[in-house]
Amino acid sequence: MRILSGIQPSGALHIGNYLGAIRQYVALQEGNDAYYFVADYHALTSVRDPALLRKYVSDVLIDLLSLGLDPDRVVLFVQSDVPETVELSWLLTSVTPMGWLEKCVSYKDKVQQGLPAEHGLFAYPVLQAADILLYDADLVPVGQDQKQHLEITRDVAERFNNVYGKKKEVFRLPEPYILDSVAVVPGLDGRKMSKSYNNTIEIFDEPAVIRKKVKKFVTDSTPVEAPKNPDTDPLFGLFKLFAKPEDRDEVERRYREGGIGYGEVKIRLGEALVETFAAARERRAEWVAHPERVAEVRAAGAAKARATARKVLDRARSACGLG
Ligand code: TYM
Repeated sequence: MRILSGIQPSGALHIGNYLGAIRQYVALQEGNDAYYFVADYHALTSVRDPALLRKYVSDVLIDLLSLGLDPDRVVLFVQSDVPETVELSWLLTSVTPMGWLEKCVSYKDKVQQGLPAEHGLFAYPVLQAADILLYDADLVPVGQDQKQHLEITRDVAERFNNVYGKKKEVFRLPEPYILDSVAVVPGLDGRKMSKSYNNTIEIFDEPAVIRKKVKKFVTDSTPVEAPKNPDTDPLFGLFKLFAKPEDRDEVERRYREGGIGYGEVKIRLGEALVETFAAARERRAEWVAHPERVAEVRAAGAAKARATARKVLDRARSACGLG
């Protein structure tokens, strides 16, 4: 199967990105034809400092490599190294009804959070549809917050196929791949972990910073002795995703019986996080020490991605009467 997904370089990656998406990227690189990219065109809607954008792009490439993407097995690339993306985006824009974009929650959310109501933000889902359709993707691993964008992608693809496809389909219709258990990873305040809520735990923060951040997890005032419900407690919700099975079972039992305080769970969560990413942290130091290897991966990824993209773009251009 052709797998494809992207991640925005709009700051350091957090554990919501890891559980909701990157862990699935790594699992799906086995036995599939996988394309993963750094969505820098998308990040232009929020990162306005050019030097910072370049740094974030390079950091995300390094992070993905350190977390286990194997450049010999996957095509790892930077979105803007494939400018065909923008051309396809225009072809798709031309058949996308305004109403479909007006109902998108991510646009409404971001404007509410204070981002200016610019056209790039509004048209963001069409660019995302171009990313996906340009590679004939079958399956797109993402978190729940991207589900609506996948629906729009399918709708736009169908519409283009109907308008221009005659009896042949121009675009393949992709399916989202969302794992229920990690569809929405909670942040330090129990809401969805997100940079815009300022409730994130970064994957590659120093261990001391991770331990300290976890202590800020917002909890209620239930005393240590009192039983607590592990099914509704966001702190346990996060702990169980990183803990070893025996630790998870022990903590869950003590929640139900009473006798465990949130302070202890925070310390154990901090340790579990530091341990989970210890090997990736070591690999990261290696990549950071060899920027020329990262540059090679990027160039090779761009060449492979462009070759695939060109064929699909030519198919779409020819279907709508260009060239
Ligand atoms: P982005 O960069 O915000 O997030 C990258 C991936 O991480 C997932 N994610 C989460 N999953 C579970 N719980 C959370 N708290 C959490 N926070 C983030 C996201 O769902 C995503 O899978 N528009 C996309 C980037 C993109 C893209 C694409 C994705 C551009 N083109 C084409 C797939 C296919 C975005 O902003 O993701």
